[in-house]
Amino acid sequence: MIIKVLGSAAGGGFPQWNCNGFHSSKVRAGVAGYKARLQSSLAVSADGSNWVLLNASPDIRQQINETPELQPAKAGALRNSPIKAVVLTNADVDHITGLLSLREGQPFSIYAADRVLATLNANSIFEVLARDKVSRNTFELDQPTRLEGGGVDLGLVVEAFAVPGKVALFLEKGDAGNNFGSRDGDTIGLKVTDAKTGKSFFYIPGVAEIDPPLADKIRGADLIFLDGTLFVDDEMLTQGLLNKTGKRMGHISVSGPDGSISALRQLNVKRRIYVHINNSNPILDENSEARKVVDAAGWEVGFDGMEVRL
Ligand code: MLT
Ligand code: MN
Repeated sequence: MIIKVLGSAAGGGFPQWNCNGFHSSKVRAGVAGYKARLQSSLAVSADGSNWVLLNASPDIRQQINETPELQPAKAGALRNSPIKAVVLTNADVDHITGLLSLREGQPFSIYAADRVLATLNANSIFEVLARDKVSRNTFELDQPTRLEGGGVDLGLVVEAFAVPGKVALFLEKGDAGNNFGSRDGDTIGLKVTDAKTGKSFFYIPGVAEIDPPLADKIRGADLIFLDGTLFVDDEMLTQGLLNKTGKRMGHISVSGPDGSISALRQLNVKRRIYVHINNSNPILDENSEARKVVDAAGWEVGFDGMEVRL
């Protein structure tokens, strides 16, 4: 199984279009130790020729242009694509709007929890993906689903499971008391298994906390790509960027007693990689103290173009 990080940044990317904050300004100026990053998406393939996108970011066109494996085959039909399926982990703008660039009648399959499919169904702009060509498939949570798309068995089995989180920003209702109207399935994690080899990894780009059921699920895993949005819960406030904490946004922090380094310390996950990294996160600077903390804890910071084979 081949896994490629197409975009390692959170919503907005790095640098973000309207941000002249501490880190965005540095990467724009070409300061050493900073890499630009596209928005949150992975690609995975069991056979090296048919691919599944895990989330479809607004940067998808650039991601395809920078990833030869995702480009049309030179032989065969004039219009073709190795992208056979798209799996969505929530309805965030950074995870669903790339679908709009996959129009033009190419057959593929979308897989998501019912709450996320309901959002696509409620927004007529997604009808640009003709339903007779692009199927919409509901994950039954906690059950294995074998992926297929474009008439091809993709050789991958996905188990989708609800994780602590929040409904997409543009769907928030009410207040923090009811977690803004969030329900199970608004944010899911994925366990992706190669049907032939049995090897598997976890992809959880948005999660508010590692609660006991989630800890049990990931214990002993070979590989996880995890929500690395923020290093410290209040860094957006202290950097003067936005009046919101990570907790308010449904994202666990990397550091601190409630953070992901601490939560995974005893879980024996062999390889741990941060993705969905926000433009406020000091781990974006390879020379930062925060980066030393992450390195010392045995975590990796995902980057665009990163490839992992399992
Ligand atoms: C998030 O991950 O919290 C969202 O992508 C935020 C947003 O929609 O800007
Ligand atoms: Mn996001």
